[in-house]
Amino acid sequence: MAQEHVQIFDTTLRDGEQVPGCKLDTKSKLIIAERLDILGVDIIEAGFPVSSPGDFNSVVEISKLVKNATVCGLTRAVENDIKVAAEALTHAKRPRIHTGIGTSESHIKFKFNSNKEAIIERAVAAVTYAKSFVEDVEFYAEDAGRTDNEFLARVCEAVVKAGATVLNIPDTTGYCLPEEYGAKIKYLKENVTGIHKAVLSCHCHNDLGLATANSIAGIMNGARQIECTINGIGERAGNTSLEEVVMIMRQHPYLDLDTNINSKLLYPTSLLVSESMGMMVQPNKAVVGANAFAHSSGIHQDGVIKNRETYEIMDPHDVGVTESAIVLTARSGRAALAYRAKNVGYELDKLQLDKVYQEFLKLADSKKEINDEDIPVIIKASNIGLV
Ligand code: KIV
Ligand code: ZN
Repeated sequence: MAQEHVQIFDTTLRDGEQVPGCKLDTKSKLIIAERLDILGVDIIEAGFPVSSPGDFNSVVEISKLVKNATVCGLTRAVENDIKVAAEALTHAKRPRIHTGIGTSESHIKFKFNSNKEAIIERAVAAVTYAKSFVEDVEFYAEDAGRTDNEFLARVCEAVVKAGATVLNIPDTTGYCLPEEYGAKIKYLKENVTGIHKAVLSCHCHNDLGLATANSIAGIMNGARQIECTINGIGERAGNTSLEEVVMIMRQHPYLDLDTNINSKLLYPTSLLVSESMGMMVQPNKAVVGANAFAHSSGIHQDGVIKNRETYEIMDPHDVGVTESAIVLTARSGRAALAYRAKNVGYELDKLQLDKVYQEFLKLADSKKEINDEDIPVIIKASNIGLV
């Protein structure tokens, strides 16, 4: 069976850039946008054009630069936002306007002091107006995660009728459980008349650490677009991490879902975004963290040296990491020490290794990590005659 395509909608330059202290200038945004295009994302959300002249200009320049991906601009359900976004996207080969409004009780009451009928009217008016500029209009039902499914379905049906091509179902506050979010997507698939005319999209935040799990639940229930960011950056605890969802689909082929992403560019792209934004990636971050392919306990190291697959479910080369790392610490065993010593030119027999290992433990107890330069020092101290 042919694998179905899941569109990757990258919002590193919009939701990702909302991280305090991570504002990028247009030049850096252009470098990242070009990389995202090469990486193979389907849609680049380039910014929120009405929010500032700088953002407007970035969307204009990204629209001129990007060759393959759709370029998208965010708006509220406000005429002027939509007009300004359309203007910023004039040069895009494939422009998309992303408009929407809050649909949860809390947003309707506290943000808009409005009611359900008026919200549907504004949603339809926004989509209709956006359609007067571009064919591709995505609608977001902000706080859909906490919106009751029946009302959400009514909103979706109305905006699809008005011409929305994509329905974004954001778990804006990162509240949903995977089963709940998956059931929401399923409910919309089964209860919105005309749903076949639109693509359902997952946009999940990570407040409870569930953004990736929720997005995967969404695609397993019929969504065909995931909104995500490199390194999972974004508002508060961040967005769904692009590298995680891409590799989950790759590593689980029975899902029969895949993306256009060139996974070998994931790690270099992660580095580029982290360096440009001055935002470090946590070492234990899945797929791209510094420790994602590092093994430090003796039991694991012994297994990996015998066969990488004993403790690795992904080949590091597949995500652009040069090799797995065998880290030498006081928890390491003889196999790891012999392996690392061999890498720097010392082939140790069993007796030699026993002696060197005792010296190694002495140093390892006083140092967090033993590096290549320490190895000849340890070998010399063990008096085996090699140094
Ligand atoms: O999280 C959210 O709801 C959003 C929308 C503006 C799409 O970022
Ligand atoms: Zn968001």
